[in-house]
Amino acid sequence: MKRIVFFASGNGTNVQQITEYFANNQQVEISYLFCNNADAYVLERAKNLHIPSMIINKQSFYESDMVLEKINQIHPDLIVLAGFLWLVPASLIAAYPQKIINIHPALLPKFGGKGMYGHHVHEAVVAAKEQQTGITIHYVNEHYDEGDTIFQTTCPVLPTDTADDVAAKIHLLEKEYFPKVIDKILFA
Ligand code: GAR
Repeated sequence: MKRIVFFASGNGTNVQQITEYFANNQQVEISYLFCNNADAYVLERAKNLHIPSMIINKQSFYESDMVLEKINQIHPDLIVLAGFLWLVPASLIAAYPQKIINIHPALLPKFGGKGMYGHHVHEAVVAAKEQQTGITIHYVNEHYDEGDTIFQTTCPVLPTDTADDVAAKIHLLEKEYFPKVIDKILFA
């Protein structure tokens, strides 16, 4: 049995898509969700998808071993950041080397770093008049958006595209590729 643990902060469409992708796969269990935002819609999705979840705060995440101990109990094969906005503590990265991945809604190293998430990224892409953007799936290290790239794919940005238009294209790429890339990593 391969176990996946999610970290998420927001809407949770990626959590839902990945969970549905593996729903009929008896070899994969979506074991747990950590969320740092009590109002995030991902918590509602987790409830509906029967994923156990925990709300974490800065103190429990950065100044205690609570999250690490919970993860050690689960013993996951992969930890997936799916729209998670906090930096992962070094202790967690050291405990799960090459087992923590993130999705970023742009072609890193462009448009990455602290504060570059969600709509901020798409607005920056449009403001820079980029002709293409895309998604990057990468290993997580101690710095925002700097770990080794696992997968990238692109989509065009038209001169008339708004940030919302770009977001819609990125959303489709994430839906199509993130579950497949996770599948490949788990069963490589
Ligand atoms: C996704 O587009 C993901 O790429 C992005 O947040 C969105 C979360 O959507 N992540 C980042 O910007 C990380 N820097 P979701 O909550 O609906 O899955």
